[in-house]
Amino acid sequence: MTDVAGKRVLITGGASGIGCMLAEQLAARGAAIVVWDIDSDGLDAITSKLRDQGHEAHSYQCDLSDRRAIAATAAAMRDADLHVDVLINNAGIVSGDFLLDLTDEHIERTFAVNTMALFWTTREFLPGMINNGAGHIVTIASAAGFAGTAKMVDYSASKFAAVGFDDALRVELKSMGTPVTTTVVCPFYIDTGMFHGVKTRFSWLLPILDADYAVTRIADAIQRNRHRLIMPRMVMSVFLMRLFPVAVQDAMMKFLGVTTSMEDFVGREPH
Ligand SMILES: NC(=O)c1ccc[n+]([C@@H]2O[C@H](COP(=O)([O-])OP(=O)(O)OC[C@H]3O[C@@H](n4cnc5c(N)ncnc54)[C@H](OP(=O)(O)O)[C@@H]3O)[C@@H](O)[C@H]2O)c1
Repeated sequence: MTDVAGKRVLITGGASGIGCMLAEQLAARGAAIVVWDIDSDGLDAITSKLRDQGHEAHSYQCDLSDRRAIAATAAAMRDADLHVDVLINNAGIVSGDFLLDLTDEHIERTFAVNTMALFWTTREFLPGMINNGAGHIVTIASAAGFAGTAKMVDYSASKFAAVGFDDALRVELKSMGTPVTTTVVCPFYIDTGMFHGVKTRFSWLLPILDADYAVTRIADAIQRNRHRLIMPRMVMSVFLMRLFPVAVQDAMMKFLGVTTSMEDFVGREPH
């Protein structure tokens, strides 16, 4: 069990959505919080809120698509004597367009934030965790990390990589004999605004998740040291579908409405 009370938790993409709400939940459970984000106003808002509530909170503006910025921010934290017990790689972006309508820069940025940043942040903070003999690395991936759909080619591929990152890292850490543990989180759509406009065909089966509910499940999964959180449960049917021929799998995804779920995607309003 990773009891977050008295631990320092670093959350990337912590200025809005899931990251911001996790910061509040984990602070309420006794964690000291550090948030990284590109959005400085959002960072100021969440750190002031947490401090007003009496919690320890720090923030660093950092563009997670930039490896050098990640290294510099991690160095600034070390200079400030801020070690990390729990790293939550949460920052993510989505383009929501057809592959041929994306710019090269869109595709590269999606991979830089959703995938490559996992490597750079983890390589910064894992050595300290191994030295401490404790630590927890959380990857906020997605259900799109094991099921692709239209208008998600770049996003889905970046999240498949995120799921693979966690899977291999978990095994590697065990083989090294370190108690540092991992959790991967794979949710269907959540109503944070990031996927504004998406729709689900059978909301009783595949609901668009309420953000408060999703964040509580994530916080609980971290505290209980769960290796994998997939929500809602129906998402797990993807593993069964994979046992069928691809044509059957595609027909099932179409029937469930997943194939067309991004048709009316709008995404988050710019700040
Ligand atoms: N919402 C969903 O339906 C859903 C479902 C499955 C998985 N997820 C995953 O959950 C995570 C959080 O999603 P969310 O819904 O909370 O999204 P969100 O509300 O858009 O929050 C993401 C945060 O990351 C920040 N960010 C984006 N690019 C960055 C960069 N280059 N450097 C630093 N920070 C950056 C954003 O800042 P700006 O706002 O300034 O861009 C924002 O504050 C993501 O990894 C997402 O892929 C979300």
